[in-house]
Amino acid sequence: SRSQTLAVIPGDGIGPEVTAEALKVLEAASPVTFGSTRYDLGAERYLATGEVLPDSVLAEIRGHDAILLGAVGGKPNDPNLPPGILERGLLLKLRFELDHYVNLRPSRLFPGSASPLADSVLGRGEIDFVVVREGTEGPYTGNGGALRVGTPAEIATEVSVNTAYGVERVVRDAFARAEKRPRKKVTLVHKTNVLTNAGSLWWRLFQSVAAEHPGVETDYIHIDAAMIFMVTDPARFDVIVTDNLFGDIVTDLAAAITGGIGLAASGNVNPDRTAPSMFEPVHGSAPDIAGQQKADPTAAILSGALLLDHLGHPEAAARIESAVLADLSKRAPGTTRRTSEVGDAITARL
Ligand code: NAD
Ligand code: IPM
Ligand code: MN
Repeated sequence: SRSQTLAVIPGDGIGPEVTAEALKVLEAASPVTFGSTRYDLGAERYLATGEVLPDSVLAEIRGHDAILLGAVGGKPNDPNLPPGILERGLLLKLRFELDHYVNLRPSRLFPGSASPLADSVLGRGEIDFVVVREGTEGPYTGNGGALRVGTPAEIATEVSVNTAYGVERVVRDAFARAEKRPRKKVTLVHKTNVLTNAGSLWWRLFQSVAAEHPGVETDYIHIDAAMIFMVTDPARFDVIVTDNLFGDIVTDLAAAITGGIGLAASGNVNPDRTAPSMFEPVHGSAPDIAGQQKADPTAAILSGALLLDHLGHPEAAARIESAVLADLSKRAPGTTRRTSEVGDAITARL
């Protein structure tokens, strides 16, 4: 078969540092040699040229088999870089344009990794769930506006867009994933008691897709209560399906309880394969530690494993996961390694 191609977008802050390690591990583990193209998108390019994601670059990226992204987000409070320019113009634009409607965020408590949960909670069962976060709709679409800005009468709205098409396809994906997991359970997380329009749509489509999967157990929890259970009884979750914004918030908490944001991987998946899927750590550009080789590259490395799995190399993906597990079990509490040392150690265990 022809060789597979990767578009690599290291991005900002710790993005380039963790992406370098992810590529190191990916190249060492992969059975194929990827043709990769690097794209210098992010804060620097925007500040120098005013460009965020030119159409021609988007078209080129579309021609690759998958995308590996580090993180986007410039220095905080830079007057030349208003919030949202890169988040909306680069990251969300890629997710929307490439129809990444499944934002897949696996959450597993890795043995040996640090969780702030008490032993009593950790003793209640395995923490091994996956969040299927809707990736193309909800309050992220940029619907809304601001009126009379800067006056005492200012009004700001962010409208959550939920389409039957968009909700049904992500709910179907969640059930299909649950069918392949041992526990076969899907929990819908929403706020149907207050967001009654969107909530009713999600609830009805969840029920109707559930009816086609009699072997899958279902549950519903309001987002606020779900945050209680994620901390007091995370073992109750298997597949969580939820909207774009709830999913964003839930997955940072999920990362925190399963060993930290430095371990949390994600895939922005286009399950229909009409465009390349994009793999990236859940974390951001971490300006507070950028450029110091302090970032944990494990999340980026595990995102590389998700990428390999998506491109049809499950054995290579499993090798990376085993190498990460072995490395985690040897991480001594209180010690720190440089970003590149972690990448080297994981590569050595492949
Ligand atoms: P963040 O995830 O960048 O950082 C939150 C905290 O986690 C910081 O203390 C940081 O040092 C720490 N952290 C993050 N990744 C780490 C790693 N690999 N190893 C060790 N510590 C790590 O979130 P933030 O501070 O809210 O956002 C910073 C910028 O990143 C913002 O501009 C935001 O918009 C952007 N962002 C981008 C993405 C993305 O590209 N997917 C995701 C989240 C945030
Ligand atoms: C994430 C990030 C993004 C999101 C931002 C940077 C647009 O927080 O990938 O979790 O909210 O999806
Ligand atoms: Mn987030």
